[in-house]
Formats: sequence, C-alpha cells, structure tokens
Amino acid sequence: MSQPATLTVNGTSYDLELDPHVSLLDAVRDAIGLTGSKEGCDDSECGACMMLLDGKPVNACSYLAMQAEGREVTTVEGLADGDELAPLQRAFLRYMGVQCGFCTPGMLISATALLRTNPDPTDDEVRLALSGNLCRCTGYGGIVEAVRSVAAGES
Ligand code: FES
Ligand code: FES
Repeated sequence: MSQPATLTVNGTSYDLELDPHVSLLDAVRDAIGLTGSKEGCDDSECGACMMLLDGKPVNACSYLAMQAEGREVTTVEGLADGDELAPLQRAFLRYMGVQCGFCTPGMLISATALLRTNPDPTDDEVRLALSGNLCRCTGYGGIVEAVRSVAAGES
C-alpha cells in the first residue's frame, strides 16, 4: 500500500505517494519524472543509477526511496546550472568520454563526488573512484582524461 513521502531532489521538494518497497531510482524516474539516472543491472553492479545522497554516491536501484526522506538527493539533472553544463559534463564531451551515454549519468555523479573530496586526483584515484561504474562502450580512457582535465582547471 502506498504511503506519503517527501523527497528532495536537486533542491526541489516532491510530495509523493510511494510503495514502501520502491527504490529511490524508480521513485525519481517514475514518480518524479527525472529520467537521467539509468537502470542497468538493478543489482548494484553497474553504477548507471548512481545519485548523490547528502553528497555521497549511492546506487539508487538498491536504495529504498523511503530511506532518502529528509536527505538531499542529487541526480545528473542537478549538475548543470540551467542550460549551462557543469565543467565535468563539458569535459566528457570534449574528451570523447561519452559514446552511447548510458553509463554517463552515473560516471558524472561518481566523478563529481570524487572532485568534491579530492580536487586533484591521480589517474589511479580517478579509476578507483569510478570502479563502481561500468561502461559497456569501454570509453574509460576519455572519461579519466575528462576528470583529470577538470582537476587541472580546464572548464
Ligand atoms: S542499475 Fe543500479 S547499479 Fe546497476
Ligand atoms: S558510453 Fe556506452 S556504456 Fe558507457
């Protein structure tokens, strides 16, 4: 049976009626309509669904929406400033870090969390931070270069 729940996503508060078992990913995609976060494996394996929860990356497919009440959720839609892409998003385009794009929202979320805590990561630190994000197009080289370029001050 559905229950009332309020989720705060990208700074906006949404009053919803949710099944207590619904995942954060399904709540954000289906109840709120923000479809940037993707469902790949639905089993905490691929990172395509990643969102920031109070600034920390979580696999939203394996996180109950009800557990996100009272916390700040950030999705890939929240990274840009209106029509202005975030530096990381521009860098992914510049360094060909996007192929089909399915992994990209999760990659951007992980990379954002990394740069907030470690603004000048090594290549290995970038790879470690992105190790929970799988890219079937195997575009890892461009992705790592994109993150390093933002750390180096390119925008
Ligand atoms: S869809 Fe959540 S980790 Fe793959
Ligand atoms: S760009 Fe296609 S899965 Fe990564």
